[in-house]
Amino acid sequence: MEVIILPSEKDCAKLGGQLIFDLVKENPACVLGLATGSTPVSLYKELIRLHKENDLSFSNVTSFNLDEYIGLSGDHPCSYRYFMQEQLFDSVDINLKSTHVPNGLANNIEAECDSYEQSILEVGGIDLQILGIGSDGHIGFNEPCSSLSSRTRMKTLTGETIKDNARFFESENEVPRHCITMGVGTILDTKSVLLFAFGEGKSDVISKAIEGPISSMVPASALQLHPNVKVILDEPAASKLVNIDYYKEVYANRPSS
Ligand code: GLP
Repeated sequence: MEVIILPSEKDCAKLGGQLIFDLVKENPACVLGLATGSTPVSLYKELIRLHKENDLSFSNVTSFNLDEYIGLSGDHPCSYRYFMQEQLFDSVDINLKSTHVPNGLANNIEAECDSYEQSILEVGGIDLQILGIGSDGHIGFNEPCSSLSSRTRMKTLTGETIKDNARFFESENEVPRHCITMGVGTILDTKSVLLFAFGEGKSDVISKAIEGPISSMVPASALQLHPNVKVILDEPAASKLVNIDYYKEVYANRPSS
């Protein structure tokens, strides 16, 4: 795990944007795993800027989102399909047919999940997965106790996640209780991961995920098993890490700089 601590969210988004820029330039037909929530918003703004000002083209990129609420259609303003359209897809040249978000209205949820996994396999897997982290340690919607080898499937949201995500809905009651999410195993199969976290509110869970034991109680801790993860944090999110000075030294003395 490479832990990168930068002064501000803006710096983190800039670095993330540069890493994605480099990947897409090297492989214009790469496969991106995308995330929702407030964390990736600054990164998506940076990608839009790079598209408009630096010729970054997504025309051959394929994308797979981590998750979707069950029961919301893609044109519901709180659905993750809608979020992606608004925050990224509508402002770049990605081919919408190459963008994938689980269908929260599928009649047969199990079949939808299996075919989502199959579609990822058919394009050769995800080259780079963007992740945020829930306050209970979830990645995607893999809530505590998710099997660390789970695949795309239906999950029930925890009370904590429902509370956290209620800010996007009119009330807590409107938040769907179920979702489709890529599994922890699906995420571990991606070729590289960028996990972002900002703000003091994420500092406890970040220290558990990075420096705590690997446990299904903190699904993000499974990333310790992934060979190619960059965790990109602002100072407040990193503030409870024991080895903070070491991570800073490693980054400051990275071989490429
Ligand atoms: C949601 C998403 C996650 C996201 C998490 C954190 O539950 N399913 O993918 O990482 O929220 O959200 P935020 O970035 O708003 O803190």
